[in-house]
Amino acid sequence: CSKPLVDAFNRRISYLRLSVTDRCDLRCTYCMPEAMTFLPRKDVLSLEELHKLALAFIDRGIGKIRLTGGEPLVRRDMIELVHAIGRKLGDGLDELTLTTNGTQLEKFAEDLFAAGVRRLNVSLDTMDADLFEQLSRRDRLVQVLRGIAAAKEAGLKVKLNTVALKGLNEDEIPFLVEWAHANGHEITLIEVMPLGEIEGERVDHYLPLTAVQDVLAARWTLTPSGHTSGGPARYWDVAETGGRLGLITPLTNNFCAGCNRIRVTATGELYACLGGAEKVDLRAALRSDAPDENLAAALDEAMRIKPERHHFRIEEGAAPAQPRHMSLTGG
Ligand code: GTP
Ligand code: 5AD
Ligand code: SF4
Repeated sequence: CSKPLVDAFNRRISYLRLSVTDRCDLRCTYCMPEAMTFLPRKDVLSLEELHKLALAFIDRGIGKIRLTGGEPLVRRDMIELVHAIGRKLGDGLDELTLTTNGTQLEKFAEDLFAAGVRRLNVSLDTMDADLFEQLSRRDRLVQVLRGIAAAKEAGLKVKLNTVALKGLNEDEIPFLVEWAHANGHEITLIEVMPLGEIEGERVDHYLPLTAVQDVLAARWTLTPSGHTSGGPARYWDVAETGGRLGLITPLTNNFCAGCNRIRVTATGELYACLGGAEKVDLRAALRSDAPDENLAAALDEAMRIKPERHHFRIEEGAAPAQPRHMSLTGG
């Protein structure tokens, strides 16, 4: 490959999170307001542009691509894109995967497998239909559960993502872990991060995973797992369930020292850090007279400006660390 991507803190960037749309069929309260304004379509990268970007990143040593949103599977030409990028698997690309809310999985699981996807992260905060509707503002739990089952049936490994929310799904977490493991899924718990203005106060529902871990450790035997996924989670093996538990702790246990990631929005803005404003415009480079040179220069610039860490804080009165919504970068 061409010059690998290495930032100013000598971190090798090998993981691209590529958002293909800012749209979503759910409205999770910690992620978006109900009345979200979506991007005009002309601003969103075309399938050809997304494909060209992916190839340019693979050429610079990106081995793992995660397609995100919004909800990636609401984009019309999504499967075509997965097939196009999937052709690089084994030829520079080690893993192509998605983070999805699961509502469309029943329809697309087999296509994703056929395109080379082997593993999916599916967001699931609760198995209670009423709470699901309260959290996502939509009544779709049944579709999500069918989607998860269809993914397993199609041969995809599923990891559940659960944002831990005080007073909401807090008491259900042990059950979710048990259910996930009994069904052969991994599960990762996530601390809620302050991105974008939402209705209500995140601080009211912020649940530090240190507290959750204590509860789980009183119930089960947790041992640090040697497993890594190339993402921010730290993993534990649960002896009694025989499954794996991931913890993503941006607030209580910073993991930025090992950062290997960058994210690109559906309009081609590369954000060097989830918690920072530092960005470069890849769409301008792509649409310029000398796209290859300009893309290469933009990626070099991204490596120069990538910050050492995020500075998220969740406390009474703390302003959102980042005004942009999570759904713009897909996390
Ligand atoms: P794996 O490949 O399974 O490790 O996936 P992942 O954890 O990298 O991806 P996923 O899309 O499932 O993200 C899970 C959570 O981690 C989401 O809440 C993301 O916002 C968060 N996350 C991913 N990368 C970063 C990061 O660099 N910094 C922070 N603070 N959060 C991140
Ligand atoms: N904080 C933490 N995680 C979030 N997600 C969405 N918004 C937030 C937030 N504010 C999660 C989703 C999904 C993943 C991509 O990010 O639940 O699983
Ligand atoms: Fe949609 Fe994901 Fe945001 Fe929920 S967290 S509204 S599923 S983009």
